[in-house]
Amino acid sequence: MDMSKQTWAQVDAYLQDHLASEPEFIKAAHKAARAAKLPEIEVSPLQGKFLAQLIEISGAKRVLELGTLGGYSTLWMAHALPEGGHIITLDHNPVCAGVARANFTHAKLDHKITLKYGEAMDSLKALIGEMRGKRESENGITGPFDLVFIDANKPDYPEYLHWVLKLTQKGSIIIADNIVREGTIIDENADYNAKGVRKFIQDVAENKNLQATALQTVGNKGYDGFMVIRRI
Ligand code: DHB
Ligand code: MG
Repeated sequence: MDMSKQTWAQVDAYLQDHLASEPEFIKAAHKAARAAKLPEIEVSPLQGKFLAQLIEISGAKRVLELGTLGGYSTLWMAHALPEGGHIITLDHNPVCAGVARANFTHAKLDHKITLKYGEAMDSLKALIGEMRGKRESENGITGPFDLVFIDANKPDYPEYLHWVLKLTQKGSIIIADNIVREGTIIDENADYNAKGVRKFIQDVAENKNLQATALQTVGNKGYDGFMVIRRI
């Protein structure tokens, strides 16, 4: 059987065609990201819809995203949120922030989205202050968050988890992208990205308050995986 990357991409296209066609504003966000030459590392349409499905299945209303890029996954999730639901998304790259903000406005979903521009750790600490009433929140939206999507700097995944655990509660869902990285995570001498993911997996595994599984994925983004964590 042909298990080439080409097949994965073709099957992805076939499934996307049938199941996950992008709404116009999501297509436009994709185009804008390409025009701005952002790295082509956003979630695929099927993966974006997977995140949207998780939001609808769980009934999440307050969502936090680490790593906005051009706002592609943000839009899939914001679209799935009920009125009154809100997603806060964090990014430290000014070009990404600009592209994402324009995409949110174009999608007419900016009322459901707050982009916090800055270093993730600073924003996470600020969000904790807001949640604890020690500082005013930008828009009245604070944690604890129902669902968190971790998709930013891979070496920082363990530290993200540390802060995200302070911003979530029992029943909260945490999704992490890129936890397989072409299989490099099984290599003890892996690069610093895979090392970060390995420590993250270990920290999740050792935390008795977390119940987790992982799914390996193939498709037009190559070979990677998602972790799905639930706080218990
Ligand atoms: C990379 C980052 C991502 O979030 C992703 O989904 C794929 C690749 C990267 O930095 O290589
Ligand atoms: Mg990713």
